[in-house]
Amino acid sequence: MKKYEKVFREDYERWHRENEAYRERVAADPRRLAFHLMPETGWLNDPNGLCQFHGEYHIYYQYTPFEPTGELKLWGHYSTRDFLTYVRHEPVLFPDQDFDAHGVYSGSALAEGDVLHCFYTGNVKYFDRPDYDYIMTGRGSNTVHVTSRDGENFSEKKVVLTNADYPEDMSGHVRDPKVFKGSDGAYHMVLGARDKESRGLVLFYESADLEHWVYRGRLSTKNPFGYMWECPDVFCLDGQLLLVCCPQGVSRRGLDFWNVHQCTYMKLTADRQTGACSVDEADIRMLDRGFDFYAPQTFLDEQGRRILIGWMGIPDADYGNPTVDAGWQHALTIPRELSFSKGRLIQKPLRELGALRSGCRIYEDLAGLCAESGIVYEAELTFTECLRMEMKLREGVSLRYEGGHGEGGILTLDLGEKGAGRKERPVRLDGLRGLQVFSDTSSLEIFVNGGEEVFTTRVYGQKGGMEVAGACAGRAVVYDLKSFSYAEPDEKTGLGDACRRNGSDGSEKNQKNT
Ligand code: FRU
Repeated sequence: MKKYEKVFREDYERWHRENEAYRERVAADPRRLAFHLMPETGWLNDPNGLCQFHGEYHIYYQYTPFEPTGELKLWGHYSTRDFLTYVRHEPVLFPDQDFDAHGVYSGSALAEGDVLHCFYTGNVKYFDRPDYDYIMTGRGSNTVHVTSRDGENFSEKKVVLTNADYPEDMSGHVRDPKVFKGSDGAYHMVLGARDKESRGLVLFYESADLEHWVYRGRLSTKNPFGYMWECPDVFCLDGQLLLVCCPQGVSRRGLDFWNVHQCTYMKLTADRQTGACSVDEADIRMLDRGFDFYAPQTFLDEQGRRILIGWMGIPDADYGNPTVDAGWQHALTIPRELSFSKGRLIQKPLRELGALRSGCRIYEDLAGLCAESGIVYEAELTFTECLRMEMKLREGVSLRYEGGHGEGGILTLDLGEKGAGRKERPVRLDGLRGLQVFSDTSSLEIFVNGGEEVFTTRVYGQKGGMEVAGACAGRAVVYDLKSFSYAEPDEKTGLGDACRRNGSDGSEKNQKNT
């Protein structure tokens, strides 16, 4: 596939037919994950359009099936009813128009009655412009609207905002629309942006019909906090209005912001009179402490849960993923349920994942634990006290806790030689009370103190072995974990497939036929 040419569905289908051997090579890689969503081949980044629509969860994602280093982005698509069995669908959106020719970039979904509305950024690179720098000039960032009645077949694409519609002081970087319905019944859109002074911010738009959008204002910090805020998401959680976004260009501060780009959450206050929002900038917090977490998105499911899925990867890092040799790279995190308590965002693995547990071993005496675990497991550790602890998670990988005297302590994840360039990441805690570790063939997600802090990272090495030592006491439960299952579209309900055969819903032009 050529790097800077449009890709039509037919091109993809032909390429897919001709690349069975590529799929087999990827599938045979021992680092393929057991309970995480990955690209079938090639590259994956941000989760997009997360939603539950007529009972079914849809997980779209930034996808470059053709090669593992990520160039031209499509929207890939998984669906599930239970987060255990997934259907891998064909990609739904292709860079096939002048206004999205260089990438169907990130965006979101909003289910309204029988219609799923998706908004994304159509990315265009104007190479032929003499002043092309792809930052201030030469970059088209179009906000595009598509609809679907089955989550699989989409209407004609409609551009609802172009660069000319964004405020004049914006650079070419404006993207990643997240759309939601407010309690006032109006539709709201937030867009991540970089202004001409290279300050990161969020733009707010409002609409009554999802077609016509009016600029309503912006949100930033008084002191610059990075040059670009990617993938914004605004929602109210347990009474607190929050902005989650990914600021780029923030330097390390103490134990914070060690990654090249950040993923943060900010508490917002809305002015009662004007409705304008401001950020509590003294309290910008990291969403994750690991090496590989970026561009998360949240959505409300039909049970009212605020669920988050992130990209288990990060752009521009100076560490890599050896899976590139096998023709694929990156994955999504496990889904997490969010809550807000005592000023902090809490993340807990979605309870559905409990059904992956198989064998279970209980260790009543934590200190001195030495378990013959493999590398695919879940471990729950509950500490009755902990001054100092060293936990071996798998061969060459450890978590160390050094407590102070009554002042909490520092927990450090150390990947040693197993991180493909990743070394250490720390977090300060007010004490170590609990750990929940999800270890997959080439990833780790560690939920600390009931999800007050999380470390998400890729890890390499195929040998397990768990040990705990130190001045600590408590109990551990270790589970083997089963893998996700994958079903064919027809095995699921047959509904999506019937719609496809009939050429979508009739009222909308089927994307496949354009
Ligand atoms: C974040 C991001 C988004 C963009 C997408 C392109 O990882 O850079 O801002 O829409 O990835 O794949």
